[in-house]
Amino acid sequence: MAAGAASCLRPWCMGLVALAVLLAAAPFPASAQLSVSFYANTCPSVFDTVRAGVRSAINRETRMGASLIRLVFHDCFVNGCDASVLLDDTGSFVGEKTARGNQNSLRGTNVIDSIKAQVDRVCGAGIVSCADIVVIAARDSVVELGGQSYSVPVGRRDARTASLAAANNDLPSPFEELADIRGKFSRKGFNDRELVALSGSHTVGFAQCRTFRPRIYNDTNIDPAFAALRQANCPSAAGSGDGNLAPLDAQSPNRFGNNYFQALVNRRGLLHSDQVLFNGGVTDSIVTSYSNDPSSFNTDFANAMVKMGNLGPLTGTQGEIRTDCKRVN
Ligand code: HEM
Ligand SMILES: *[C@@H]1O[C@H](CO)[C@@H](O)[C@H](O)[C@H]1NC(C)=O
Repeated sequence: MAAGAASCLRPWCMGLVALAVLLAAAPFPASAQLSVSFYANTCPSVFDTVRAGVRSAINRETRMGASLIRLVFHDCFVNGCDASVLLDDTGSFVGEKTARGNQNSLRGTNVIDSIKAQVDRVCGAGIVSCADIVVIAARDSVVELGGQSYSVPVGRRDARTASLAAANNDLPSPFEELADIRGKFSRKGFNDRELVALSGSHTVGFAQCRTFRPRIYNDTNIDPAFAALRQANCPSAAGSGDGNLAPLDAQSPNRFGNNYFQALVNRRGLLHSDQVLFNGGVTDSIVTSYSNDPSSFNTDFANAMVKMGNLGPLTGTQGEIRTDCKRVN
């Protein structure tokens, strides 16, 4: 570059050199600034406070653990883990709560709001971000439901905007095929193993009839007894019983484990998007191995969750620390 600069005398060329110098001096990726000890001085009790809030929410309603695990996915996959998913619509933007994957489906935002209020009572306002609370709460939910723990680096800041279009574009749908789902995960930097491990979240929680109706009536790669069982509480006519719930993992919807993968091997995946992971394609062998080996699933899941938490965080002076997770300051 020095030789290039020496022979570069015209203004347009010097501009290019200046740009190259700026790019070369660009800081490390923002995730390098996240650290487990970020709040060690400013809010040392943040992890205890979030865990207590998650525990009491799960004690009130067990399903909330699953809902909080889903919430971090829907935040982090849309413009990074910046709590954009929590923002209500405003005059200047339409937020993510009405995106196809969120409307009448996203849960747990009120739990985050109340944990945030508690954290601010303990540590003062303007210290801990909503984005960090979402990521910590998901980890605590995994642990509370019996999954393996992992460390959560923190120091994220909150977005000042949200994007309905990005949410519609980046969140996978239960009606998608494997190629589309792989594309969505690979665009966020996840390989097949990580995709399958993260999908193992469906070891807990519930889905509404409207999300699995075509599967239980029209898919052929489904155990017939399982299809009949689910049809009993999910009528075939669109609009009837749309919100009726079924467990994503029939064996143990409140227990974090590898039963989900055993169900897939037995063609008992609830969502079409679940069963495509074991339907003769490239991810079959990963599903089989997790179905046989809970410890490799637990380890891979924990690592993939940390990686998901590192997606595009705002750090330093970017964004803000929201006071109310539902709106910008
Ligand atoms: C692979 C693509 C995925 C698709 C298509 C998908 C789709 C869905 C759908 C349709 C539901 C039911 C929502 C409802 O009926 O209201 C659901 C629930 C859930 N999803 Fe996913 N999901 C995917 C991946 C993930 C990932 C990566 C995670 C977390 C890391 C996750 C965690 C959950 C959890 C825990 C629930 C249960 C929520 C509750 O009971 O409140 N999902 N998912
Ligand atoms: C099943 O497929 C048929 C033919 O494409 C369609 O008319 C029907 O609506 C589908 N049923 C469900 C429940 O998706």
